[in-house]
Amino acid sequence: MPVGIDDISFYTTNFSLDLQELAANNGSDAAKYTVGIGQERMSVPGADEDVVTMAANASMALIDGMSARGEDPQAITTILFATETGIDQSKAAGVYLHSLLKLGPRCRVVELKQACYSATAALLLATAWVARKPKEKVLVIASDIARYERQSPGEATQGCGAVAMIVSANPRLIELDPETGIHTEDVMDFWRPNYRSTALVDGKYSTKVYLRSVRAAWQDFQHQSDLTFGDFDYFCYHLPFSRMAQKAHNHLANGNAHKLNAKALDQQISASLMYNRITGNSYTAAMYIGLVSLLDNTSADLAGKRIGFFSYGSGSVGEFFTGTLVKGYQNMLHQQAHQTMLDARQPLNYADYQKMYAFEVPTDGGDHVFEQQTNGKFRLTGISQHKRLYQVR
Ligand code: HMG
Repeated sequence: MPVGIDDISFYTTNFSLDLQELAANNGSDAAKYTVGIGQERMSVPGADEDVVTMAANASMALIDGMSARGEDPQAITTILFATETGIDQSKAAGVYLHSLLKLGPRCRVVELKQACYSATAALLLATAWVARKPKEKVLVIASDIARYERQSPGEATQGCGAVAMIVSANPRLIELDPETGIHTEDVMDFWRPNYRSTALVDGKYSTKVYLRSVRAAWQDFQHQSDLTFGDFDYFCYHLPFSRMAQKAHNHLANGNAHKLNAKALDQQISASLMYNRITGNSYTAAMYIGLVSLLDNTSADLAGKRIGFFSYGSGSVGEFFTGTLVKGYQNMLHQQAHQTMLDARQPLNYADYQKMYAFEVPTDGGDHVFEQQTNGKFRLTGISQHKRLYQVR
């Protein structure tokens, strides 16, 4: 029985900063951003947005889709919420989400963490669960806000977004194979101690560890599967910035003595980079937004095509896995809604970006009401006695 992704949708916030605007104000050459790291814009969250509101906005399309097809959303009996922008050390962000989505009490909810990798752990754990209980559906969430120190090399690679996926038996989008290649290595390339709101990063070192991890995970995959590099039509990589995927793909191809020219190699990943270029890094969600980007931005019928995925989370864990697109997968896409959302984004000037960056959720235990900034259906209206308050608009 095939198991995999039945439906997928993503959300990003309605503010963005053009990296030309950032470069004009921090003394960098804009080409370093647009060419060097391959980024054009980054999404910026409003004060009334967090990983829960982004996740709810991403999920709603799936819940509405189920209802429209006469399927019962209460078949979702598990929520696996992957994030490294946790809002609480104890309560899982997914419990707030569960409530906002009005799911029934017979639903287990848990949060997972391992940098940008944990959404892949969530997805693969979900497939194992569904293989055991084929009537049940798992809602897998990846939701993050990438935040670095102002004026640091990482600043241009910020961004945010959330992905929601339904994992089921007989999926209508992608069937996932059980064979995967794994590589774990204890390194300090990127981390965020509990007392910090921004990540610490050894940037250039992190790119080297990423490349080492892609080769090592692929080598392990070769021991687990009979598939070779030539069996893949497309690749989706973890996307801290789009150039990273291009480097990783060339690195993997070179290691496999590939016969494809540079243009053909580029075609295997170019559509997956389009949304990342204008939303930035979204940590756990980044590779899956890349998958949505590939599907939304490829007009050819990809049914039967095989995709290779390389998921990387600093620290570090890397995993290579694979899936095949199902005939008729186009019926499950939310392309128009994604495009409308992206087109409606409001560009920020540098002063407004600075103001939004400076906002921190108050920690004094008082009652605070947040200004309405997001156009999303779900918002964080404030915080009262250390309790986050959410609203469906
Ligand atoms: P940097 O060190 O300031 O940049 O920041 P650089 O000097 O290395 O330049 C970047 C590229 O732009 C270089 O190209 C330059 O040559 C080029 P490359 O040599 O790499 O091919 N360049 C130009 N090109 C055209 N015109 C110009 C120009 N100037 C320079 N005028 C760095 C880069 C990645 C270090 C920084 O952005 C950073 O620290 N980012 C955050 C960390 C990161 O994203 N790491 C990626 C791997 S780790 C990962 O993916 C995990 C992560 O998502 C976290 C998680 O798992 O949770 C981060």
